Amino acid sequence: MTATAFATLFMPMKKKTLRRLPHPVLIGLMGCGKSSIGRRLAKKTRMPLVDLDDVIVEEAGMSIPEIFAAHGEEHFRDLESVALANQIGKRVVLASGGGVVLRKPNRKLLKSHPPVIWLKASPEFIAARIAGDPNRPLIAGQDALVRLTALAEERYPLYEECADLVIDRESMDKDGITEKIIKYLKKKAKA
Ligand code: S3P
Repeated sequence: MTATAFATLFMPMKKKTLRRLPHPVLIGLMGCGKSSIGRRLAKKTRMPLVDLDDVIVEEAGMSIPEIFAAHGEEHFRDLESVALANQIGKRVVLASGGGVVLRKPNRKLLKSHPPVIWLKASPEFIAARIAGDPNRPLIAGQDALVRLTALAEERYPLYEECADLVIDRESMDKDGITEKIIKYLKKKAKA
């Protein structure tokens, strides 16, 4: 690790810089690392992490697979849209669910609350990490790679449309990605 990388990740930020940091929203396909990178960012920026899936589960009192099974995907998307509208704009690191970009009003909300950061990863990269995960109803019982390829085809243009910053998730480890995002946020805080 270089000295600059070390400083970006481990030296505390000045209060003035912390106050001015914009509130990042992470988007991207399931399993690209939104929650784990979100946790690192939250620690570093001293903002709370809000994981949109956790908000939905908490409010519904059911797990995501249970919501899908009992009420279907559209109902889940309704809950997701409400949760997004309630959380966006707060002083938090917001880790969204992979399908949050599907609805146009959600995309409009995202675009009006920069910075939106897309952790871009290929279906192959993600399939290797999440195949067999029982908590992901959209790939349950299917070939993860085939399903993720279809999701990527549909969603990449939508992520692209919303993103202020696109990060190649496969180019670095999670600390490297975190460092890159912090640098970006600091630059925005100074602008
Ligand atoms: C979904 C992704 C999940 C969760 C739900 C639907 C999707 O979130 O919201 O299972 O449509 O891609 P993660 O991206 O956090 O896994």
